[in-house]
Amino acid sequence: MRKIPSTNLNLYKNLSIWIPNAPFEANLYHAISLILPRYEQKMLEFTTGIGMPPADHPLYPGMVQFVQQEAAHKRVHTKYNQQLVISGYKIDIVTVIADLNAYIITNFTTNAFKIGVCAAGEHLTGIIGVYYESEYNKYLSNSNKNIREIWHWHAIEELEHSAAMFDFFHYHKFHYPTRLLSYLASSFWLINPMLILGIIVLSIQDRSIFTKKFWKNAAYTLFSPHGLFWQFIKGSVQYMRRDFHPSENDFSLYVEAYDKSRAAKSYSKAS
Ligand SMILES: [Fe+2]
Ligand SMILES: [Fe+2]
Repeated sequence: MRKIPSTNLNLYKNLSIWIPNAPFEANLYHAISLILPRYEQKMLEFTTGIGMPPADHPLYPGMVQFVQQEAAHKRVHTKYNQQLVISGYKIDIVTVIADLNAYIITNFTTNAFKIGVCAAGEHLTGIIGVYYESEYNKYLSNSNKNIREIWHWHAIEELEHSAAMFDFFHYHKFHYPTRLLSYLASSFWLINPMLILGIIVLSIQDRSIFTKKFWKNAAYTLFSPHGLFWQFIKGSVQYMRRDFHPSENDFSLYVEAYDKSRAAKSYSKAS
């Protein structure tokens, strides 16, 4: 398993605006963290509850990796969110709604829909993962190192297992209309509106929303040529195709580069 970055976040008491030159992005990542522990817990419950492939099935190793990685993410982001509270943020409005969403999906939807929203969520986190990696050098120059490395690690693992839930959905022979419907639910209910809410709630509290820098950074993050808005449109059109498969997006270069750089770091530490 990949080494988890240090989560000794209390060395950095104040997590507000952890990327000083990019306050919108700083709170976008915080907002993602706020919903992650609930949603990742549900993904684990749904996956193991509905039935994993047998150990000799080709999907089995990928599913085991998926479960291990999401369990680790959930643990790390639980600590991360505690640190946000210590930093002075009030986060209840976001976490209570995320809990409510998780409750509704758990109790009022079919197994196909549950796995569908997980697969859709993985596709959306893949889009954000690519954005994070494309901006990583910018973050390197000025940001909280601990938080930056947590997101770097998390983004890489999201890119690594981006096909797992999609393949799991098809392993159970769930149908295309459910894939579409659950993608719409993830995009326009479970994830994007929750991120917008989280950004607003956090940015009002740290006052960044009242600065010009915040809005300039928001415009860049969403509408620059590789911005998230365009990537979301492109990714959605792709996902809605009946013959889509996540392997169309080859993320292996990101994963290999990350693992190589970690290996080089531990080699230079040892020597
Ligand atoms: Fe994750
Ligand atoms: Fe994931």
